[in-house]
Formats: sequence, structure tokens, C-alpha cells
Amino acid sequence: GRVVLLMGGVSSEREVSLMSGEGVHKALVSKGVDVLKFDPKTDSLETLEKGGFDRAFIALHGRLGEDGTIQGVLNYLGIPYTGPGVTASAMAIDKDLTKRVWRSAGIPVPEGVMIDPKADDAVLEEAIACLGATGLVVKPAHDGSSIGVTKLAEPTVAALRKALEDAAGVRGDEVLVEEYIHGREFTVAVLDGRALPVIEIRAPEGDYDFNNKYFGDAVHYDCPAKLEDEAAATLGSLCERAFAAVGARGWSRIDALQRADGSFALLEINTSPGMTPHSLVPMAARAVGMDYADLCLKVLSLARC
Ligand code: DAL
Ligand code: MG
Repeated sequence: GRVVLLMGGVSSEREVSLMSGEGVHKALVSKGVDVLKFDPKTDSLETLEKGGFDRAFIALHGRLGEDGTIQGVLNYLGIPYTGPGVTASAMAIDKDLTKRVWRSAGIPVPEGVMIDPKADDAVLEEAIACLGATGLVVKPAHDGSSIGVTKLAEPTVAALRKALEDAAGVRGDEVLVEEYIHGREFTVAVLDGRALPVIEIRAPEGDYDFNNKYFGDAVHYDCPAKLEDEAAATLGSLCERAFAAVGARGWSRIDALQRADGSFALLEINTSPGMTPHSLVPMAARAVGMDYADLCLKVLSLARC
């Protein structure tokens, strides 16, 4: 059958999605799949409707692509698609909502609070007093790829205000403010409900920012991570539970930090993970003998409506 590959789109991660899409396109073509690229920013929905597609590969990231919106369109058109459905996608794009669901399922998460960028100074002072002992991390609740994220090692009201404004973007959204956990950083790919080998991300100064994520080679990755077997198994099973707790499907990638006492805190779940040359689900798949193109075929085989 014919596959439509959704890429590009209108979110702040458009450029990342175009890189993911190019990779997936090349891989599917190499496997003999009949695939058409579709960019929701420029292409007409009529193409989706009338193209005779029997599956969609979603290589979109962020708003309207990873948040349940395009998933709803595909449900309506009856085209099975990769990754989770509407509800799980909508939940996962919201880092605060995700953490509430995980917390209620007994899955450890960083302490945090949502703050209106226009809130009074008193609200900011309280956040610093309650959460800021080891610093604060300020991030858009609905964006990816570290866009708009600020880490404040020694937060002040003025610095927090600036960080809130940077994260709020043009819409002036509420912003997630979390305790700053200074610890080792991990990511876990979950494929068909099962965790792949844990990857440790070793970024210079712990700064795994947009540039370090997609360009250059400043970041070192250990796959599998150099963790005790028991710790790796604990993290893998936490991530499998976290995947199930939001009702995810197909595949995802979950990011986590390790506290000084050895315990883990799960940050977020990415339900349409990056597939760029620097991306980490392909690295985890390789560790179990699955190359990039086979990973694409596997993800496609899990497409549902
Ligand atoms: N949001 C990026 C694409 C990722 O999680 O891989
Ligand atoms: Mg993300």
C-alpha cells in the first residue's frame, strides 16, 4: 500500500521535523515502500483525503503534529498512523499534565509548578523559596527540543521573570517551573511498549540544548548507559509504566534524570521522537541490532487508527 509521510508542519520544531522526515523518507524508499512526503504547512489536506493512503508515518514534532490534532484528522479520514492516538498525544505534549498522571501512577517526577508569566513578584518569590534550593529549570509546557528553556543556577525574581517571558512565547502561555536536578541525564526509547537499552547523555556542563541536540559533536552518548544492571532495569521498567500510564502506543522516547541518591525522575514523554542523524531512538534500536530503516518499518507496522 501507499504511505504518506507527514513532516515539516508549523510548530517551533519544524526544522527538526524536516530533518526527521528526510531520514525516514530515505529509509522507507530503500525498503521499497511507496511513500509520498506531505508537509502540513504547504500541502493541501485534499491530498491526504484523496491520496489513497493506507498508512501515515508521522515525523512531525510539537504543536499540531504531536499533540493529537493531526491524529484526529487521520482518525476522521480512517488512515492508520504511527505513534499514539489523540488522547495520549494531547496529554504527552503537556508536560505538566503528563507529570500529574505519572505522579498519580506512582512514577517519580521533578517538583514543579505552572506560572503565568504575568504573575505578581510574590508568586515568583514563592516559587524560588519552595523549589529553587538547587536552582530552577524554566520550560514551555508544550514545546520540544529545548526551545525556550532556561536553567537558573541561582534564581532571582528578575531572572525568573525573563525566563518566564522567554518560555511563554508569543501566546503568553503559562510556563512550567521545576526544581533543578543536578544529575546524570538519560533517555529511554520505548518500542511497542518495551524499553530499549537506556542511553546516557553526557553534554558539556550538562547543557543538552538545541544546538548540542542537533549539530556538532560536543555531546557524548553511552548506549547502553554505564549503569548497574539493577538501576538500568529500574529505569527501563519505570519508562514502560510511564508509556502505559499515558496510554501511549507504537513508540515514544522518555527523558529522565538521576538524583544524587540514585533515584530517577521522569521529565517527559516524546510521542513522535526525533529521527534526525543525531537522534537517540535510532541509537537505542541499533544496540539491539535494528538499523534505522528496520526501525522505520517496525514503527510503521505498529500504525493504528
Ligand atoms: N522533540 C524532539 C524531536 C525529540 O524529542 O526527539
Ligand atoms: Mg520533548
